[in-house]
Amino acid sequence: MSEQNAPSPVMMRVYENDKKGATGFFRNRAFLMTAVDLLKTLPRGHINILFHACSVGAEPYSFIAYAAMNGFFQHFESFNILATDIEPSFIAQAQAAQYPSSILNGMNDQERAFFASSSVPDMVTIHPAIKEAVQFIPAASFTDFQTDMAFDAVFVMNALTYVSAQEQTKAINAIAAYNTRFLFTTAFHPDSVKADMVQTGYHPASTNRAQIHNGWGDRITPAPIAPSSPEYSWRIPPYSENIPDYEYRCCAIFDKGTV
Ligand SMILES: C[S@@+](CC[C@H](N)C(=O)[O-])C[C@H]1O[C@@H](n2cnc3c(N)ncnc32)[C@H](O)[C@@H]1O
Repeated sequence: MSEQNAPSPVMMRVYENDKKGATGFFRNRAFLMTAVDLLKTLPRGHINILFHACSVGAEPYSFIAYAAMNGFFQHFESFNILATDIEPSFIAQAQAAQYPSSILNGMNDQERAFFASSSVPDMVTIHPAIKEAVQFIPAASFTDFQTDMAFDAVFVMNALTYVSAQEQTKAINAIAAYNTRFLFTTAFHPDSVKADMVQTGYHPASTNRAQIHNGWGDRITPAPIAPSSPEYSWRIPPYSENIPDYEYRCCAIFDKGTV
């Protein structure tokens, strides 16, 4: 199935305490395919990947499904895929991996094949091989996460919008200390993202940049968004090379190396 004909992802709205978020399986297929392809440019051997702000698990499970479909597990001899979120109950839901069966309506046949019916009515669960590939670790904020590990890739998707621009700077500085190569992020503070990336040694990757940007679905908003709007880092204009610093603002893949 071509991407143009692929069904739109079914979003799940999750709420707990003061934490909320929208997440979904296979939310941006161009992003998932590009992320897997870029990671496969890394040397064979071991790879460490960390997902911050994983919500109820749809994001890391989607990545692992695309990784399985696209030769990632043949490329690497061993891997650690860790995931966390600031909200412990979201992590517990991710570990339980029970989702409303309506999510299947947003999937193509290949994607749907990773799911099976659950013993819970109207729910589906994900294939054990996908579930077991990720290790959920205790709840943590990306602003003060600490680790002794070095991660080849860190994901902070659709989450920097929940912190201030100053906290974004702090978070990207902290992440750069334990991330050796790719930082995957979107819905960041657009006015300061270039400075945050430049000072930490990341450059924007151009691979499939426009396709990924325009793949963020309901976040694309043609009308200008005022910087004072709470949605300023969430809503994005359609991709255009006329946007100042578009290489950074319209990018979701930042790289410390060269592809
Ligand atoms: C809109 S959801 C995005 C979920 C997923 N990353 C995705 O793109 O589908 C935002 C998530 O960020 C989490 N979050 C908010 N602030 C956070 C922080 N400071 N550290 C870690 N996670 C955070 C929320 O709990 C929620 O799960």
